[in-house]
Amino acid sequence: MKVIKNASQMQKIALKHIRDGDEIGLVPTMGALHEGHISLIAKSVKNDDITIVSIFINPVQFGPNEDYLKYPRPAKKDKEICKKNHVDYVFMPSVNDMLPADHKTFVEVKTLQDILCGSFRINHFRGVATVVAKLFNISCADRAYFGMKDFQQLRIIEKMGKDLNFKTKIIPCSIVRERNGLALSSRNSYLSAEGKKRSLNISKTLKEAVEDFKRKDLNFVRKTVVNKLKKIPGSEIDYTEIVNFDDLSPADKNTKKAVFAVAVWIGKIRLIDNIVMIKDKGR
Ligand code: PAJ
Repeated sequence: MKVIKNASQMQKIALKHIRDGDEIGLVPTMGALHEGHISLIAKSVKNDDITIVSIFINPVQFGPNEDYLKYPRPAKKDKEICKKNHVDYVFMPSVNDMLPADHKTFVEVKTLQDILCGSFRINHFRGVATVVAKLFNISCADRAYFGMKDFQQLRIIEKMGKDLNFKTKIIPCSIVRERNGLALSSRNSYLSAEGKKRSLNISKTLKEAVEDFKRKDLNFVRKTVVNKLKKIPGSEIDYTEIVNFDDLSPADKNTKKAVFAVAVWIGKIRLIDNIVMIKDKGR
């Protein structure tokens, strides 16, 4: 496994692999790798000749009052995890290399970037789309792996890829959860033992909504979730939305496949989670 710190060097290596007929898989991450990231890596290692994992804590996707500076940076451990999981290249560029002071170009995915998390984290998805577009070009990836944990991010990147004719195929990967239901996240390390216990109610509530969605109307499903989330001590809801699975448009009574997406503060920690909901046949 090689660690590459420079974008043009990474691109040269990727281009050489393409010339040699290799297919490249990219797993974009911000590090602090956990089993969720590892599941993406495993898919790439299985599907692709070459797996590149990028580790870049992208400053332009963090708001001014967000956790950019305190985001976990266990670089040594991350490299060990990559090696153990048969990654070929870890791409770890510096901020200056990816976003030098004279960087002027940004990618926006209109509408999709402004709903759900986008209405609370202004410019977040513009930052994500810009850096992911750069990573696609640098890695020359045939496939790139994204978790459904960040469902809105996944749909935004798919739309960007289609609109801008990227050759990179986006592979959605299911959410990895702890046995107790908590969706794995690098930010879970911020939770206290008590906070973790409280946050379990988020996934539990969403799981119960899946059953309700099969038979009950949308209003009931949503209200039930809101009431349960409000009961978690120290919780504050950013949003609870039921959207269409394919395009994130608001669900209505005809929606057969939906995603219930929520963002909830547990004390000072903001957690996102979502679950896919499918109507019973005949309804
Ligand atoms: P990061 O939060 O490190 O996540 C990297 C990838 O891992 C994303 O595709 C995310 O959806 C996936 N992931 C995280 N937790 C997961 C879980 N529990 N199960 C399955 N997949 C999971 O998302 C980002 O970084 C950044 O926005 C990035 C795309 C790298 C752009 O900077």
